[in-house]
Amino acid sequence: MKDQSSLYERALANNKKWIAEKRATNKDFFKHLAEGQSPEVLYIGCSDSRATAEDLMGAQPGQVFVHRNIANVVGGADLNSLSVIEFAIGHLHVKHVVVCGHYYCGGVKAAMQAKDLGVLNPWLRYIRDVYRIHQKELDAISDEDQRYRRLVELNVQEQCINVIKTAVVQKTFLRTGAPVVHGWVFDVRTGELIDLKIDFENELKHIREIYDLGFEKG
Ligand code: CO
Repeated sequence: MKDQSSLYERALANNKKWIAEKRATNKDFFKHLAEGQSPEVLYIGCSDSRATAEDLMGAQPGQVFVHRNIANVVGGADLNSLSVIEFAIGHLHVKHVVVCGHYYCGGVKAAMQAKDLGVLNPWLRYIRDVYRIHQKELDAISDEDQRYRRLVELNVQEQCINVIKTAVVQKTFLRTGAPVVHGWVFDVRTGELIDLKIDFENELKHIREIYDLGFEKG
């Protein structure tokens, strides 16, 4: 019989089942978890309930450091995402940074509309800035759905560039050869993760022409 209660009502009971499952596969699971974390990946994704980070890449607790916000944005003065990046790279030494957008992103959709959305305006401005940078390409796409999908991809690309603009990425990569920044899109219709194949080293080289924080000169 199907349980008709809400997820919220079932959550604590579900948690007990989850503990039992984890212990059944590895009796020391929580002992290891308590010893600390050394995630390999920093995932920066959308808060959308369908794009669930660990679950869609088959990751276990302890493997992915996660930051999610509306439309996976990395703003130049956003202490939240910048602190996550600083900590994940400078202290946890992640080897990969993934910016993951998703098709049918409500944040990207909202940014495409000429509408005052209150406190969301300054946040959506980051995405409208992406549209402005790529206006020629986007305006040339007559199909609205296709244009929406392309903006999702371009937003991922520009947020990857914003990650590359940070001193911690530039300095750590030049010193150690990691982390590498990747751009992905999650297709909610198929479940597929699509690698946009961002040429990280080329982007880094290009970014350092203007935003070089890597090597202190002199
Ligand atoms: Co979204």
